[in-house]
Amino acid sequence: MRLQDKVALVTGAAHGVKGELMGFGGASAWLFAEEGAKVMLTDIDVESGERTAAQMREEGHDAAFRRLDVTREADWKAAVQATIDAYGRLDVLVNNAGTGGRPNVEETTEEIWQGQMDVHAKGVFLGTKHAIPHMRAVGGGSIINISSIYGLVGSSGSTAYHAGKGASRIFTKSAAVQLAKDGIRVNSVHPGFIHTPMTDAGVNTEQRRRFMLDRIPMGRIGSVMEIARGILFLASDESSYMTGSELVIDGGMTAQ
Ligand SMILES: NC(=O)c1ccc[n+]([C@@H]2O[C@H](COP(=O)([O-])OP(=O)(O)OC[C@H]3O[C@@H](n4cnc5c(N)ncnc54)[C@H](O)[C@@H]3O)[C@@H](O)[C@H]2O)c1
Repeated sequence: MRLQDKVALVTGAAHGVKGELMGFGGASAWLFAEEGAKVMLTDIDVESGERTAAQMREEGHDAAFRRLDVTREADWKAAVQATIDAYGRLDVLVNNAGTGGRPNVEETTEEIWQGQMDVHAKGVFLGTKHAIPHMRAVGGGSIINISSIYGLVGSSGSTAYHAGKGASRIFTKSAAVQLAKDGIRVNSVHPGFIHTPMTDAGVNTEQRRRFMLDRIPMGRIGSVMEIARGILFLASDESSYMTGSELVIDGGMTAQ
């Protein structure tokens, strides 16, 4: 019971239906609930999000779903308030929502750039901003920003995605320094190539799969639980002396 009596809000948490391929948000929601937390799942995918939350409740967990587009400040205000109304407090925020964007520099349009920066940089900022007063009110909290190895190193494409994930990484450190005095810890997670709904098409395409495997020293694509367990560690008090840190979980990819 590593999150006993804690309340968590997770973005991009729709993909958590048991028996289907899960994403980091959905898998974390389950782990959090199994460790005693009450969980507010959020996403723009209402159908999957409602199914995940319903399945969690069927298994006896305290979980709810609410639509939250992380790029919209009004949505953030409403979702954080709904969490307080339902569960009375907020201890953990996982800024996990995201979308892929492959184009290289020359192919990247202004619209693609803005879309990627909105979801990966602005979304993380807005969530953090609106969680702070409620975490301060309970004496602290833990904010976990899901960046990427693509927030640490470059690649042949995904230009705006790299920029957005890099922004999320350094925003994490800025917020960590500012909020340490309030007992609010802020850390980033940097997954490597992991099989989730976002990467499913690529993992099942021979050429893309080869691209990934050729770059991973451990020689395999990671599983969603290998990331979710890291998120749980940062959410729990076991990581009580960690803030502004980067938790890299990538099979050794960025070690080379
Ligand atoms: N899978 C990987 O290999 C990998 C590696 C590094 C980082 N990541 C990051 O991990 C996070 C989770 O991705 P995942 O791989 O678990 O896939 P996923 O598809 O399960 O999660 C992404 C979720 O974000 C939601 N979303 C997209 N735009 C949104 C918005 N504007 N507001 C709210 N929700 C929105 C989607 O509906 C989806 O449910 C993403 O930020 C992704 O960039 C993934």
